[in-house]
Amino acid sequence: TYVIAQPCVDVKDRACVDECPVDCIYEGQRSLYIQPDECVDCGACEPVCPVEAIYYEDDLPAAWEPFLDDNAAFFHEALPGRPAPLGSPGGAAKLGAFDVDTPLVAGLPPQG
Ligand code: F3S
Ligand code: F3S
Repeated sequence: TYVIAQPCVDVKDRACVDECPVDCIYEGQRSLYIQPDECVDCGACEPVCPVEAIYYEDDLPAAWEPFLDDNAAFFHEALPGRPAPLGSPGGAAKLGAFDVDTPLVAGLPPQG
């Protein structure tokens, strides 16, 4: 899967969303997250991010490796303010933005 890492936090440019052929990039409050079961590894999102937040999982810079599990956690785990895991909704556009983030993202100081 591809992964959205820390540079997206508090930036949320959203250029990636328009490129994704399977609509698997979901919006939280401070960051976007790629649904790893829905991403087909096409790579279209990666070059359009102006802050280079998107990486193939094996290419994540070491400091941002936690974002691999963290993107998955946005979908597979209960979050503060959203007790039911989101799972695999099959498309982000119809859902809009969520007013929650993962604990990792929520715990970051203001970025940028
Ligand atoms: Fe974030 Fe870059 Fe997409 S800033 S919303 S990952 S284009
Ligand atoms: Fe979509 Fe990027 Fe995956 S464009 S399919 S999230 S590689």
